[in-house]
This record gives sequence, structure tokens and C-alpha cells, in this order.
Amino acid sequence: MKKIIIAASVLALSLPAAFAIAGEASNEALQKLIASSWKDPNSKNPKGAKPDWASRLTQDGLQKSCSTTRNSPDNATAERIKADAKASIVYPEDGKFLGDWKSGEKIAQNGRGLRYNDKVDAASGGNCYACHQIDKAELAYGTIGPSLASYGKLHDFTDAANKATYEKIYNSHAAIACSNMPRFGTQGILSIQQIKDVTALLMSKDSPVNK
Ligand code: HEC
Repeated sequence: MKKIIIAASVLALSLPAAFAIAGEASNEALQKLIASSWKDPNSKNPKGAKPDWASRLTQDGLQKSCSTTRNSPDNATAERIKADAKASIVYPEDGKFLGDWKSGEKIAQNGRGLRYNDKVDAASGGNCYACHQIDKAELAYGTIGPSLASYGKLHDFTDAANKATYEKIYNSHAAIACSNMPRFGTQGILSIQQIKDVTALLMSKDSPVNK
């Protein structure tokens, strides 16, 4: 009982402090608060973030340009962001953009990855359904991104569209400077083979997405 009372009073003390910081809208204070929760994943919190994850709290150039301009950088900056993103794309060695759509479907459904409790060697998923409708048979999907149902059909299954889709998934900022979609290839979230597999899910004639 004593413990619970102590815990409750600690909460009562720390919550208003956190709200006050957010209320002041001091970006610097907010960044400090966030960073402090990541900095020291020590014994008190054995499930805390790994030290190398702390780097993810620091925005890279692209993120800075997009957040300081509320996603409207000037033209020259936008063009530079797109060119840098394009240059980061690594293409499949065999020149084929379509992998196995069945594996792609599993990747699109899988929201695991980049989390504390992931198995160390497990491949990450793409979590595509969190933001997109893809297969019309799937009932649960998010709407941050456009529907990708019938994607290949709508793009006439062309080779150019296969390549553009691979590029979009590898680094979406090559197409839209301040895209809201994760950079799956450039950030090492998905492998080249996994990106080929989700490209196939969208673009393959056999995929249920295009039935
Ligand atoms: C966090 C949300 C989010 C996730 C996760 C996400 N996307 Fe997107 N995606 C978007 C948004 C938003 C757009 C719209 C344009 C933009 O901002 O880049 C988009 C656009 C696209 C487009 C271009 C659509 C068009 O008609 O031009 C494709 C293709 C695409 N996403 C595929 C995928 C695939 C495949 C995955 C999973 C590997 C995925 N997305 C995961 C948010 C997301």
C-alpha cells in the first residue's frame, strides 16, 4: 500500500511538469525531455531503448528541412531532398523488381520491427496496412496513405511502374520531398528482397490486389 501511495504521488508531481513543458511549447525543453527517456537504458529499466537507438532522436537534414518548414521547403531544398533520396536507392542486382507477392503480403501485414521486444534476428515487417488499403479482402487498414487496391492494374502493369513502385518503397522522398512514408530501404527497415516482394504484391498480375 505504501508503495502505491509513493508511486501515485511521484506521478502527481511529474505529470504537471511534463504538461507545463508541452504547454510552453518550448521545443528545446520537449526535446530534452524525450531524450532523457532514451539516454540511459540502465538497470532500472531493463527494457529501455538500446543506446544506439538514441541516434534516432536526432533529426537528419531531410527531417529538419521538412519539420521546420511544415513540409513546405523551398523548391531548391525540395529538389535536393529528392535527388539525395534517389541517390540512396540500391537496385536489385538481377534487375528484377518483382519478387514473391505471397511473401509480400506477409510483410505488408507485419508491424513488427524497430521495437524493444522484437527478436534480435527477426526481419522487420513493412506495416503497410497501418497506412494503406491494399487487398480489398483485408478489413483492417489505416488511411494516412492512399488506397493501393488494384495498384498494378491502375498502372497497366508496366515495367516503368514496377521500377517506380520499388523506388517509392525504397525511399519515398525521391518522389515527394516531405513524404510521410517511412524510407524502408534507405533506413534498413526492409531488405532488397523484401521490397521486391511487396512491389510484387502491388504490381503482380497474380496478386489478389489486382483481382
Ligand atoms: C506511416 C504511414 C505509411 C506506411 C507505414 C506506408 N506508407 Fe505508403 N504512403 C504513405 C503516404 C502518406 C503516401 C502518400 C504520398 C507520400 O506522402 O509519400 C504513401 C504512398 C505510397 C505509394 C504511392 C501511391 C501513389 O498512388 O502514388 C505506394 C506505392 C506506397 N505508399 C506503398 C507502401 C508500401 C508497399 C508500404 C509498406 C512496405 C507502405 N507504403 C507503408 C504512408 C505510408
